Amino acid sequence: MEQKANVHIIATGGTIAGRADSTAATVSYKAGELTVGQLIASVPGLDKLANLSGEQLCNIDSKDMQETIWLQLAERVEAAAERKDVDGIVITHGTDTLEETAYFLQLTVKTDKPIVLTGAMRPATAISADGPMNIWQSVQVAADPSATGRGVLVVMNGQINGTETVTKVNVNALEAFQSPGRGPMGVIVDGKIFWQSQGIAGVLTANKLKFTIKNLTQLPKVRIIYGYVGGDDGLFVKAALQDGARGLVYAACGNGSVPEKLTDLLKETAASGVPVVIATRCGGGIVVLSEIMTVTNGFIASGLLNPQKAKILLQLALTQTNNIKEIQRLF
Ligand code: SIN
Repeated sequence: MEQKANVHIIATGGTIAGRADSTAATVSYKAGELTVGQLIASVPGLDKLANLSGEQLCNIDSKDMQETIWLQLAERVEAAAERKDVDGIVITHGTDTLEETAYFLQLTVKTDKPIVLTGAMRPATAISADGPMNIWQSVQVAADPSATGRGVLVVMNGQINGTETVTKVNVNALEAFQSPGRGPMGVIVDGKIFWQSQGIAGVLTANKLKFTIKNLTQLPKVRIIYGYVGGDDGLFVKAALQDGARGLVYAACGNGSVPEKLTDLLKETAASGVPVVIATRCGGGIVVLSEIMTVTNGFIASGLLNPQKAKILLQLALTQTNNIKEIQRLF
């Protein structure tokens, strides 16, 4: 008989561990109620798929996720990955900030072993709750040697997505997680994994771009400024700088277009040594900046990272260097 893999599950809360009074409730519920043991017990036959162990890091709604919890989580994941009796790791998480936690782990945890994040759009008490199948499929991916070295993965609704590209695109639907314009790295059908692509993570950064966070107790402060008609004329940028921001991400309306009323201030900000990364609110595509934007204004293009992920890369980059050219290279 084939030996079962060992999968360690770290639970952090979210709708997947949510409880409501009514089985029809998909919005009115409390996230982060079930424990890791209850989550494992809610999936019939999971122990036949892998030998399981579990730990509860926190039990929160992921809107309340903190960077200090990320630092603990990365340490726990790395500790689990170093264990000989662990082949893969699954992290259950609220969907609201799941993509951010996944990307933080992608940039900080050094291992080739599969790390999978999953959540659910319906609470555990709902009719047709999606959590149990998502846990099943996540354990399956984490237990499968074919997932080795592909970077941190997000498994939801039968799809496997890479961390750089995956984002929550829908607040209600079960297919809430997608990689816009790229599609999933793989799908799971009838208990079988079908890989479709190596993913950006696998090709570019998995196990290459890594930051050491061992002695950190907090991350450098980076703020996101959102672009829109009638948007910031400097108030928010100045407030962020006064508050000690060490970097800014501007979520531009299109491909990095910064309004004239903000350009000089952002240019001065970059020149003063506070990096300014230009991302987009569009939700897809790759931000590529003109020479005027990069050379004259000193801005950094976020590439394919959305604003919330560009913020994480900038924060981690700032733990290593303040040199804008060096940070540009990391992006
Ligand atoms: C949360 O992010 O914790 C609540 C929403 C969800 O998990 O879908």
